[in-house]
Amino acid sequence: MFVSFYMEMYEAKKTTAHDAVASIADRSNLILGMGAAMPPALMEAVASRAKQGWFTNLNVYYMHASAAATESLLVPELMPVIKPHPLFMSSHDRQLAKQGYDVGEEWVHFVPCLFHQAGRLLTESISPDCFVVTVSPMDKSGHFSLGTNPDYGATVVRKAKRIIVEVNENMPRSFGECLLHISDVDMIVENSPPLMETIIGGGSVEDEKIGHFIAERIPDGATLQMGIGAVPNSVMSQLVSHKDLGLHSELFSPPMVDLIKRGVLNGRRKTLLPYKHVFTLALGDRDMFDFMDDNPSIVGYPVSYVNNPSVIRKNENMISVNAAIEVDFTGQVNSESIGGHQFSGTGGQLDFVRGAYASPGGKSFIALHSTAKKGTISRIVPHLTGGAVTDPRMDVQFVVTEYGVADMKGRSLQQRAKALIDIAHPDFREDLSREAHSMGMM
Ligand code: COA
Repeated sequence: MFVSFYMEMYEAKKTTAHDAVASIADRSNLILGMGAAMPPALMEAVASRAKQGWFTNLNVYYMHASAAATESLLVPELMPVIKPHPLFMSSHDRQLAKQGYDVGEEWVHFVPCLFHQAGRLLTESISPDCFVVTVSPMDKSGHFSLGTNPDYGATVVRKAKRIIVEVNENMPRSFGECLLHISDVDMIVENSPPLMETIIGGGSVEDEKIGHFIAERIPDGATLQMGIGAVPNSVMSQLVSHKDLGLHSELFSPPMVDLIKRGVLNGRRKTLLPYKHVFTLALGDRDMFDFMDDNPSIVGYPVSYVNNPSVIRKNENMISVNAAIEVDFTGQVNSESIGGHQFSGTGGQLDFVRGAYASPGGKSFIALHSTAKKGTISRIVPHLTGGAVTDPRMDVQFVVTEYGVADMKGRSLQQRAKALIDIAHPDFREDLSREAHSMGMM
């Protein structure tokens, strides 16, 4: 009986993408769902209105632009009126920023942010005028699921002035705090293209070595957070003989599915939400989305919960693994900028570096190849060159390259410099040591 009641509501709110976005005002803030939850039809409709001259200045907030975003809304011709404000730069954003620089303009307005604060920032620091997001089909109780992307979306759907959803049959239905009731939705559009997929290629020899150094320091029963990329994937491929691991991770990714299927990731010894695989953002392939769909053991929560260091620390033996661009002699880490340009973002890195070290028995690992640009530059450097500090030196614990592991905790500046030079590429160690001497650090 209430099924037909909700279906009536559904039909009443259902409209075309074109009509749905007509309610988005000029000079307002539009928030997009993140990554796979970016709604292609709605973005295309906003782009079409922008081309028709309906906007003079529309601020667009998001993280991880998908190809659908960069093929519709985030295109050079719309930059006079569409103002992209990413909280994390994807390769698409970098390309757009560069196209802007090439014509002497700032097109991309990056907003620095700790990921666990993203929901608050998007609902308190700016006015959340409209939120557009891809959701799974409605269930019989009138709930849509945010599926792959609770992240900031789970906060914004509670506070944005206007909520427009794009219902996609390919969006998995996930559990946790991931639901949105039809009574809280203003307009519904249906569109079911394949979801954005993120495929990470096989790792290098260096990734394997780094993965080995980290995997051998992970005890049975630990709870894992793994970032995106070849190193975390390599670590996970080397955990197949571990026992009773748990997951409390910003990211849910395909190698985690493999460990769940093998019974290695079972959550049995977790001290927070045992037996549940906790995530806030999923990036992967269709097989992974199918595995997530209607799977009650995989639970998505807002990033304000998952990435909050005071929540992370409730998991004993919490292990955090993230990648970096460069580390200076004192242990400061830059994971987001290259040559003064914003390359990516802080994301949840510092959240987990802090949360893991605050966990009883916890450890945080920062992983990087010893060199970049085909071996021509060292990533262990006297001073950071990128322009941003992602992890302050007081927070950093283990730094790992293919040459070993350097522990920063409890070490003096001199000891840090020596430990880091010991894991730098051998071709650079002499020059780095000379530099450290001249800085009075050795
Ligand atoms: N100087 C100059 N260029 C550098 C460099 C340095 N010190 N370090 C890396 N680069 C270049 C590489 O050569 C590479 O260029 P290419 O694509 O032309 O080969 C590019 O930068 C990317 O480097 P790579 O190490 O392959 O990056 P990645 O894709 O593995 O990503 C981070 C690494 C650090 C950028 C990424 O993990 C990140 O953004 N982290 C911050 C957010 C985070 O950790 N979130 C955690 C939870 S998901």
